[in-house]
Amino acid sequence: MNVLLIGSGGREHALAWKLAASPLLTKLYCAPGNGGIAEVAACVPIPVADHTAVIRFVKDNAIDLVVVGPEAPLVAGLVDDLTTAGIKCFGPTQAAAQLEGSKGFTKDLCREFNIPTAAYGRFTDAAAAKAYLSRQELPIVVKADGLAAGKGVTIAQTRAEAEAAIDACFSGAFGKAGSEVVIEEFLAGEEASFFALVDGKHARALAAAQDHKRVGDGDTGPNTGGMGAYSPAPVMTREMVERTMREIIEPTVAAMARRGTPFKGVLFAGLMITAEGPKLIEYNVRFGDPETQVLMLRLKSDLLPALLAAVDGVLDTFDVRWHEDAALTVVLAAKGYPGAPEVGSEIKGIEAAGAIDGVQIFHAGTRRDGDRLLAHGGRVLNVTARGRTVAEAQARAYAAAAVIDWPGGFYRHDIGWRAIAREKAPA
Ligand code: AMP
Ligand code: GLY
Repeated sequence: MNVLLIGSGGREHALAWKLAASPLLTKLYCAPGNGGIAEVAACVPIPVADHTAVIRFVKDNAIDLVVVGPEAPLVAGLVDDLTTAGIKCFGPTQAAAQLEGSKGFTKDLCREFNIPTAAYGRFTDAAAAKAYLSRQELPIVVKADGLAAGKGVTIAQTRAEAEAAIDACFSGAFGKAGSEVVIEEFLAGEEASFFALVDGKHARALAAAQDHKRVGDGDTGPNTGGMGAYSPAPVMTREMVERTMREIIEPTVAAMARRGTPFKGVLFAGLMITAEGPKLIEYNVRFGDPETQVLMLRLKSDLLPALLAAVDGVLDTFDVRWHEDAALTVVLAAKGYPGAPEVGSEIKGIEAAGAIDGVQIFHAGTRRDGDRLLAHGGRVLNVTARGRTVAEAQARAYAAAAVIDWPGGFYRHDIGWRAIAREKAPA
């Protein structure tokens, strides 16, 4: 099979690496790709927002399956246009991608179908939002409704902070994403990223991971796209996985099908594991980044038939297998991230780092300039490792990170701390 993967981050490098290992694969293309993806796929500079150009490329190159990595092309309806053109595509339609594209849409769906989530209100003007706010307890969470690259969420400890967040949204700080605001109850607990494959009717649990959203050690500083992750997530016990499937994922899949907008692709539930059980913080309609980097290292089965089973609607007779091992990834980011990153600095030593036992290095934002490898983005490398325990995977990943010679970058030093504290605790 010829496959076209859409995207350019570490998630796509991990997906490309796994797809490239499939005996079913003939040729893998990636649009636009990056300096690391180029090692396993032919990177092609198609403008992804131009759906006609994507369709032309697919037809000219006899592509059998398109796999969409990031949310923006999904929310823009790439899958709809490809499907109309008769092209097989892994990912949800624009209507189903509303599960990520609009927080209010998902909250309303949860309310209608009794899916556990934080209590909330939706508002299109500041006065109504502030009136609701005045009746709520603190802390309180204020969110821009639309896609804001993880930056549209404020956890306010005071009313003044919450009011400032409401004003920021309505004054255009997040563009169109902030023209509607969701205010919701603060949930206490431990977070987990949970992934399920969905074929429109059936859902199959994949695995769970834990992300580290804050930029600094000890979970300090501003939120990022994710500074590191590990899998499995100990908080997702068998019971929690079963409850998540039964109380959250399956009712969502059934609701979307009933509404005539069935969901196909990966459903990524951002969960809070509270004292009462799992509650949905948000949905994403794609693989997580950097969670996918650890998931792909743990996935024993071939990824390609799993994606095809979701596209073809036959997940009820399909299953995937996982390595028992843990995996952990450390994100190396360019100085300045999550603000404006410094681009163009040279990175050395990744061959030596990648040669360490159990280590796999994924590129998130690099480009090649002749023989040189240059930083080209905020999150630049994902140093990923497998190990029998999270502690072992962590030791390998940090040993590899230490070998990379990149004065223009930085990383967190405590990825995996929650799981490692549990591993060390007496049973
Ligand atoms: P989101 O972009 O919706 O994933 O939110 C970003 C982060 O804000 C999440 O990963 C949580 O850490 C936090 N967060 C969002 N909503 C809530 C909530 N209702 N209660 C507690 N924390 C939240
Ligand atoms: N790591 C969180 C995300 O992919 O949205």
